[in-house]
This record gives sequence, structure tokens and C-alpha cells, in this order.
Amino acid sequence: MTAMKPHGGTLVNRIAEGSERERLLALAPSLKTIEVNKWTISDLDLIGVGAFSPLTGFLNEADYRSVVDNMRLADGTVWSIPITLAVDEAKASDIGDGDQVVLQGEEDGIAYAILNVESIYNVDQSYEALKVYKTDDNAHPGVQKLLARPSNYIGGSIIVLNRPKPAKFEEFYFDPKRTREIFAEKGWRTVVGFQTRNPVHRAHEYIQKSAMEIVDGLFLNPLVGETKSDDISADVRMRSYLVLLENYYPQDRVFLGVFPAAMRYAGPREAIFHAMVRKNYGCTHFIVGRDHAGVGDYYGTYEAQEIFSNFTAEELGITPLFFEHSFFCTKCGNMASSKTCPHDSSDHLHLSGTKVRALLRDGQCPPAEFTRAEVAQVLIEGMNEQLSTTAIS
Ligand code: ADX
Repeated sequence: MTAMKPHGGTLVNRIAEGSERERLLALAPSLKTIEVNKWTISDLDLIGVGAFSPLTGFLNEADYRSVVDNMRLADGTVWSIPITLAVDEAKASDIGDGDQVVLQGEEDGIAYAILNVESIYNVDQSYEALKVYKTDDNAHPGVQKLLARPSNYIGGSIIVLNRPKPAKFEEFYFDPKRTREIFAEKGWRTVVGFQTRNPVHRAHEYIQKSAMEIVDGLFLNPLVGETKSDDISADVRMRSYLVLLENYYPQDRVFLGVFPAAMRYAGPREAIFHAMVRKNYGCTHFIVGRDHAGVGDYYGTYEAQEIFSNFTAEELGITPLFFEHSFFCTKCGNMASSKTCPHDSSDHLHLSGTKVRALLRDGQCPPAEFTRAEVAQVLIEGMNEQLSTTAIS
């Protein structure tokens, strides 16, 4: 079975192995170091395993400027989010083009990768924020992260020496090479990828299952890297996905594996990025619903869908499946959207995130039309655990 071509044509592999790894580990102590945080460690690992193909490292200046301005790498390949390594002024002046540098975990001192320095450059982060996030408002969680970093970037290819260890749910971590094999083993010729940073509510389930009607399999691929503090923890979400799949999905038509990336909240641009990455994992289709990867009111409800029209189908190489805002309609008696339901919005069940959180905090399940009872139960337990840890700490 021929799987979907990775973005750029080849699945990147920058993980050092065997004697090459031994040689680089022995070399590492003699090299300069750059301390990296969890976010960068997740980026370098995803580059290493090819999830960010065709990137082989952190963006050099030419690629960076092209991505920020045109949503393409310098060679024209579609790429919408700059994957960059930021260092302070002192580091930037201490390091030169052609150097090899160890990227070392700031918390654990582990040598995660070696970077071959190609390019050291200074950027205007407000400009980057306006282009990538469409705002330079510091209240935007992605912009806040961006503006908190130094404005000197270092680009170059990397080789990964050590991989981050998942704290939990290790059995749901699959590299793109492996997911591709698994989809082929299952005989799936078409696979739809689903990105989420939330528990799967009925609207999510509805759009996933609508897609499942026309493809061979669903790759439920929740993002479990850094998210903003008021998003539900990955741990609780994973438990909610498991209980949902067990009770409501045909086991042979869905595959759960995590996406260990950080959430940027870049809305439209992140939707393109999410799609390219899922293509690398072997998906042929990708779901984009309402306000994909959005936060607050920064993006229009369907902007993350509209942005796809900037690219041809060949350039994207994965088919986006767009879904309207979905809801439960009391008159229809089922899940629907404005495409399928003629009734008034007063007949639609609308629950705000705040309302749902308040119900869960009180130990009450939201209506079954909004969330499956089994999922609500897991979320209530999660809230209680969170409250008891907050009380202790
Ligand atoms: S995201 O930040 O990861 O995109 P979320 O987990 O809420 O957030 O959404 C996952 C996917 O479901 C996205 O493609 C989003 O657009 C879609 N989605 C979420 N809620 C709805 C809804 N009510 N109707 C249609 N699509 C939705």
C-alpha cells in the first residue's frame, strides 16, 4: 500500500543511532552549549522524527523570513509557523556560523541534540507576531510566549542524541514512521487526522464520525505538549479519550496517538501547520472545524478554513475537511450544523466553556447532548484531583 507522501517528499530522520550516536555523545562535552526549555525540546524531537518534515533543524534566516512573510520556506514549500531557536545576546555573540553546539535541557542537563549552526540573526518579534498571530497583543498566549523570548535566533540542522521521556501514556507515543506502518497494517488507504487540545465533546464526535463515513480510519491525535494553563490537562484528556473510544467508537476504525507539540494558538496559520504535520504522520485528510487552534476573539470563525485557499491541492498534499459549527438541535433531535438544520438558534443547545466548567466543578454532568456521561465523569474526577492538589500546594 502506498502511503501518503510526507511533506517535501521525504520523511526526515535526524535521530542519531549506534556508533554515530556514541561518537557524537563523546564529542558533546567539548562543544559549547545552549540551554533549551521544554517547548524547544519538543520542537527538536518532532524535527528529529520527521513530524516537521521537510525541516531538518531550526529555521535559518532565509527560511524564517520567507515563512513569516509568505507562509513558505525559501524553496517555496508550504510552511506556516516559524520553528525557531531563540538565544540571548551573550550566546548569540559567543557562537559563530559553522559551530556545532549542544542543545542541553535547562532543567535536566541532558544533551538532547547537536545543532550545526548555519545562521545567526536578529528579528523583529512584533512583526513576526503580527504576521503569524495577526496580533501583537501580549494577552494572546502565543504572542506572549513569543515576545518573552530573546530576539536573536540561531538556525541550522540538528541531530538528536537523546529523546524526551513521556511522563505518562508512553504507549500512545508513535513516531510518524510508525503511524505510517500502522495505518498500512490496518489496510487504511485514507486516514483523517483530528487535532484537539480539548476533551472530545459531542460536536467533536459528530464531525469526526461524519468524516469517518467517507474515509477508512480516524487518527485521533490530541496535542499533549505545552498548552495554556486553563486548558484541561493532557492527563485528564487522555483518560476522557480512552473512555469515549471504548464506549462509542468501532475499535478497528480509530487509532489514538498523541501529538507531543506545544500549542501556539495561531488559529489559521496553525491549521496549515497542523495539517502538514498530520500528512507526515500518514494522514490523507485533516479536519478543520470552527475556530481551529483559535483563542479568544482573535480569529474569525472560519478563517482557519479560508487560509487553505492560498495553496493548491498539490502544494498541500493533504485534503482538508471543513466543518461548520456543529451543535445539538432539539427539534432535529440530533447533532447538526447550519448546513443540515433549518431550525432557529433557540432550538440549538449552546453551552459556554465557563458554564460547562462550573457544572463539572459542582460535580454535575453537562447534558448528554453536549458531552457523553462517561467523558463528563472523567472530567469531574479530573477537576476534583486538580482542586485537591491546589489545596495541598
Ligand atoms: S483546537 O485548538 O485543537 O483546534 P479543539 O480541541 O476545540 O481546539 O478543536 C478540535 C477541532 O474541532 C478543530 O478542528 C475545531 O475547529 C473543531 N471544533 C471544535 N468545536 C467545534 C464545533 N462546535 N463545531 C465544529 N467544529 C468544532
